[in-house]
Amino acid sequence: MMIAVDGPAASGKGTLAAGLAGHYGLPCLDTGLLYRAVGRAVDALEDQPGFEAAAIAAARALDASHLADVAELGSARSGVLASKVAVIAEVRQALFDYQRQFATQPGGAVLDGRDIGTRICPDADVKLFIQADSKARMERRARQLESRGLVVDRYALYHQIEERDARDMANPNGGFYKADDAHLLDTTLLGIEAALRAAIAIVDEVMARKEGSKP
Ligand code: CDP
Ligand code: CDP
Repeated sequence: MMIAVDGPAASGKGTLAAGLAGHYGLPCLDTGLLYRAVGRAVDALEDQPGFEAAAIAAARALDASHLADVAELGSARSGVLASKVAVIAEVRQALFDYQRQFATQPGGAVLDGRDIGTRICPDADVKLFIQADSKARMERRARQLESRGLVVDRYALYHQIEERDARDMANPNGGFYKADDAHLLDTTLLGIEAALRAAIAIVDEVMARKEGSKP
């Protein structure tokens, strides 16, 4: 079973993807980490002429099995850098094969990101598009960062998330839009458990329908 989970920053897609993976016993890939790792590799070159070429080289050289070794992947700064390298077509192309191989492994998989249902797994069994209003997302991300001991400027974080979402949605190479066959799940008023229950209900229903339509 291949499950695609997409959505904007801090919508809860990673938490949900991990929960679904645990529930169905599937491996899970947070594809944002790939872009974050590439972004970190070119941090020093931000907004300079060599940025694009360095990002392409970093994406091609990325060892995706060692992401856990890259420092500060979860920081807001890494998110901004990630969204800057994510607009480069060659970067997305370089990261494609790893994601596609992960998605198509024999036992199935759950992937979360921006373009999973549109580009990486257009053939996913179930596609979820996670939404939550901007203030709720900012507050979630703020608490997540604070729980790691960081001091958060909520005003700055709100604008940073809005700016990143805008860049992602305008990214001509990004594929960040709700696929026609994706199920919209708004988690603004849902806690983690309630969101997971709602997602499991969608997956079970889609899979039951698929089973029922088999000859
Ligand atoms: O992966 P994404 O950036 O979309 O979000 P996340 O990392 O899964 O969630 C961001 C934060 O919001 C985490 O600390 C989650 O525990 C929290 N969260 C929440 O409070 N309520 C939800 N329904 C989902 C996530
Ligand atoms: O967790 P959050 O939603 O804040 O960010 P993320 O999923 O780690 O993604 C960081 C950035 O990487 C996004 O803002 C996108 O610019 C980019 N990204 C992408 O373009 N395609 C993906 N499949 C995943 C991430």
